[in-house]
Amino acid sequence: MGKVYVFDHPLIQHKLTYIRDVKTGTKEFRELVDEVSTLMAFEITRDLPLQDIEVQTPVQQASAKVLAGKKLGVVPILRAGLGMVDGILKLIPAAKVGHIGLYRDPKTLTPVEYYVKLPSDIEERDFILVDPMLATGGSAVEAVNSLKKRGANSIRFMCLIAAPEGVEVLQEAHPDVDIYIAALDEKLNEKGYIVPGLGDAGDRLYGTK
Ligand code: PRP
Ligand code: URA
Repeated sequence: MGKVYVFDHPLIQHKLTYIRDVKTGTKEFRELVDEVSTLMAFEITRDLPLQDIEVQTPVQQASAKVLAGKKLGVVPILRAGLGMVDGILKLIPAAKVGHIGLYRDPKTLTPVEYYVKLPSDIEERDFILVDPMLATGGSAVEAVNSLKKRGANSIRFMCLIAAPEGVEVLQEAHPDVDIYIAALDEKLNEKGYIVPGLGDAGDRLYGTK
């Protein structure tokens, strides 16, 4: 079963509160999502492998650590996942970025795939799949299916807010995928929105309705 990690760092929780606030406008919402994504990227990269190198300090020769150069891939689920990418790349600028386009059919709530473009060396990369919202779980499950179908074998899912229903669906469908979230909310409402959530992430990021 995939593990669930809640990043409850005070800075993340503080910024998430203003992301949730209906009074927060598009510009500030986008900036806050970017900042929280950077903070979450800091947490999710804690286990990156290191290697020893020799470095000459002004005082003497020393053995020191650098990243071992593991190949990473960041894959936003379009559209809302795009809002998290730049914040993550601030910390891991060498990561390749793939894109998976999915939208939820408003009536059935099932995901419809409309675009996929991924780095060529998929099998060798560790992927971080990102989307601000894990609601019914349909979009995340479909995006992981899409990555696996093309050869990905190391995938983590990172989002801002998850509903318990979505976590369960993703864990059931993909027990090998760990889930990293800033908050686990109460439930879904009858329209499939997360309660209390933040509303429609894509619309709030891009000022659409
Ligand atoms: C939102 C969100 C997720 C999906 C989550 O996207 O960004 O991708 O819904 O819902 P689920 O867990 O029930 O599948 P949406 O379909 O609104 O598309 P958008 O990003 O283009 O606005
Ligand atoms: N997608 C969103 O953007 N918000 C929700 O609450 C659920 C799905």
